[in-house]
Amino acid sequence: MKNLKKLVFTAGLMIVAVCLTLTSCNKEGPQGATGATGATGATGATGPAGKDGTNGKDATNSCKECHAKAVVDAVATEFEMSKHNWGGAAFEEAGNTSCGPCHEQKAYIYVCQNNVSAAFQFTGGKWVNQYASNAANAIGEISCYTCHSSLHTTYEKTDLVLTNTAAVPMTMWGGAKTINLTQGGGTSNLCVKCHQPRPLVCGNDPAGRLLNYDSVKNFPTAMMYDSAAGVKNTMLKPSYRMHVHYGAVGAVYAGQGGIEYPGSVSYANSPHTTLATCQDCHMAGPMTGIAGGHSFNVRNAKESALSSSTTWNFNGCNTTGCHAASPIDASSAKWQATRTEIKGLLNALATKINACGGGHDILHADASAANLWAGITTGNYDGYLDIYSSSTNPLGYWRDPYSTSAANMAKPKFPKLLMVQTGALINFQFCLREYSLGIHNTVYVRALLTNTMEAMTAAGL
Ligand code: HEC
Ligand code: HEC
Ligand code: HEC
Ligand code: HEC
Ligand code: HEC
Repeated sequence: MKNLKKLVFTAGLMIVAVCLTLTSCNKEGPQGATGATGATGATGATGPAGKDGTNGKDATNSCKECHAKAVVDAVATEFEMSKHNWGGAAFEEAGNTSCGPCHEQKAYIYVCQNNVSAAFQFTGGKWVNQYASNAANAIGEISCYTCHSSLHTTYEKTDLVLTNTAAVPMTMWGGAKTINLTQGGGTSNLCVKCHQPRPLVCGNDPAGRLLNYDSVKNFPTAMMYDSAAGVKNTMLKPSYRMHVHYGAVGAVYAGQGGIEYPGSVSYANSPHTTLATCQDCHMAGPMTGIAGGHSFNVRNAKESALSSSTTWNFNGCNTTGCHAASPIDASSAKWQATRTEIKGLLNALATKINACGGGHDILHADASAANLWAGITTGNYDGYLDIYSSSTNPLGYWRDPYSTSAANMAKPKFPKLLMVQTGALINFQFCLREYSLGIHNTVYVRALLTNTMEAMTAAGL
C-alpha cells in the first residue's frame, strides 16, 4: 500500500508539474464563454483495493554498495596512512611528463590506457625515452581513482576493477623485457608498473645510450671511470645520484634487473615470485597500527629508522594460507635469519665498494629518517655516492668530476672505477632499495650479492 501511495503521490506531483509547465508555456489567448452547468450523476459502488505497485528503481542503491561506512569510508581512513596519500612527490613532479607515469594520477592512467611504449627513440641525434604522458595529464595525487580508474563509470561495484593487470614493459630496458606476475589475476602488475627501476643512461655519451649491463658484467676489469683521464674515457658520470631510482622492488620481486655476475650461487627466485601478490603482504587485514589494508604498509611505522623495536603486520604471511601451518612473527627463523643474512651480505659488499676510497667511504650515509633505508645496513647507506653537489649533497666529501666550482675543486678527487666496481655499486643500490632485506625474493638477492662479491674478489679487489 505504501508504494501505491508513493506512486499516486508521485503521479500527483507529475500532474502539478505538467500543469505548471503548460501554464508557463501558454501564450494567454482571449477568455472563452462560460459553459452550461452539467447534471449531478449517481454515486458508484466502492471498488476493490488496488494491487501494490512494483518497487520503483531506487537511484541510490548502487551508490550504497560503495558509499557505506564499511566500504569507501573505511578504506579512505586506511588510505590516509599510505605514503601514496601523504607523500609529497606528486606535488614535486606535477607538470613533469616523464616523472608523471609513476608520480601523477592522470599520467599513470594515460600510459596504461594508451599503452605507451617504454622504448627509446632516436631523435635529434640522441636516444630519447618515450615513456611519458602528455602535458595535460601530468597531474594528480595518487588516489582511489589512480588504481580504480573506472570509478563512477557505471556506478556499480564492478567499477573497482584495477587500472592495470597487464604485463609491464620494463622502462629500465626500454621495454625490451617485461615483468608479468600473473598470480592473483595479475594484480601485482598494478604496483610493478610504478615500482620498477628507471633506465641508467650513460650521462657522458652524446647519443644518450643506456648503460650496457652485459659490458659491465663481461669486462669486469675494464675502466668505467678513470680519475686520471678526468671526464674523458668514461661512459657513466659518477655523481651523487647515479642510480636506477627508487623502484627496485618490482624488478627484484620478479627476479630481474640486476647485473648477474656468474658465481657460486645460481640465479633463481623464491616462491613469493610466483605464489604471492604484492597485495597479500601489503594489504593484509586486519591492520596492525598503520600497516595493512589500503595503507599498503607492512611496517607499522612512519618514516623511522629500522630498529629492534620496529613492529610489523604478519597477517598476510599467515592468513593467506602460505605460512599458516607455522606462522611467521618477528622472531621466526624465516624472518630473522633471512634478514640477518642479507644484511650481512649488504654490509660486506658495502665494505668492498668503499675500499677504493682509501679510508673514506664512497657510499653516502645518513642515519636520519630522511634516509628511506636507515637501519637496513649498519653503515646507514642510502645508495647514493658521497660526491659533492652544492644543491643535493652540500656536505659531500668527494669532488664532482664535472664541476669546476671552487668549493668542489677543494675536495679530493673521486677514485677511478672499474666496470666491476660500477656493477657492484648498482647491485648494492638495487638490493638495498628493495627494502625488505630479502623478504621479497631471498634467492635472487642472495645470488646477486654473493656473486658480485666474488666478482670483485676475482678482479683483485
Ligand atoms: C564502485 C564504488 C562506487 C560507486 C558504485 C559509487 N561511488 Fe562515488 N566514490 C567512490 C570512491 C572510491 C570515491 C572517492 C572517495 C575518496 O576519495 O575518499 C567516490 C567519491 C564520490 C563523491 C565525492 C566526490 C568525488 O568525486 O570524489 C561523490 C559525490 C560520489 N562519489 C557520488 C556517488 C554517487 C551519487 C554514486 C551513485 C550514483 C556513487 N558515487 C557510486 C566509489 C563509488
Ligand atoms: C601510480 C604509481 C603507483 C602505483 C600504481 C603504486 N604505487 Fe606505491 N608508491 C608510488 C609512489 C610514487 C610512492 C612514493 C610516494 C611519495 O613519496 O610521495 C609509493 C609508495 C609506496 C609505499 C611506501 C614506500 C615508502 O617509502 O614508505 C608502498 C609500501 C607502496 N607504494 C606499495 C605499493 C603497492 C603494494 C602497490 C600496488 C597495490 C602500489 N604501491 C601501487 C607509486 C605507485
Ligand atoms: C618508473 C616509475 C617512476 C618514474 C618514471 C619516476 N619515479 Fe620517482 N619514484 C618512483 C617510485 C615507485 C618511488 C617510491 C619508492 C618508494 O618509496 O618505495 C619514487 C620516489 C621518488 C621520490 C621520493 C624519494 C623519497 O626520498 O621519498 C622522488 C623525489 C622522485 N621519485 C622523483 C622523481 C623524478 C624527479 C622523476 C622524473 C625525473 C621520477 N621520480 C620518475 C617511481 C618512478
Ligand atoms: C595503489 C593502488 C590503490 C589505491 C590508491 C586504492 N586502491 Fe582500492 N584496491 C586496490 C587493490 C589492489 C585492491 C584489491 C583488489 C583485489 O585484490 O582484487 C583494492 C580493493 C578495493 C576495494 C574492495 C575490497 C575492500 O577492501 O573492501 C575497495 C572498496 C577499494 N579498493 C576502495 C578504494 C578507495 C575508497 C580508495 C581511495 C581512498 C582506494 N581503493 C585506493 C588498490 C588501490
Ligand atoms: C612476502 C611478503 C611481501 C610481498 C609479497 C611483497 N612485499 Fe613489499 N615489503 C615486504 C616487507 C617485509 C617490506 C619491508 C617493509 C619495511 O621495512 O618497511 C616491504 C617493503 C616494500 C616497499 C618499501 C616500503 C616501506 O614501507 O619501506 C615497497 C615499495 C614494496 N615493498 C612494494 C612491493 C611490491 C610492489 C610488491 C609486489 C611486486 C611487494 N612489495 C610484495 C613484504 C612483501
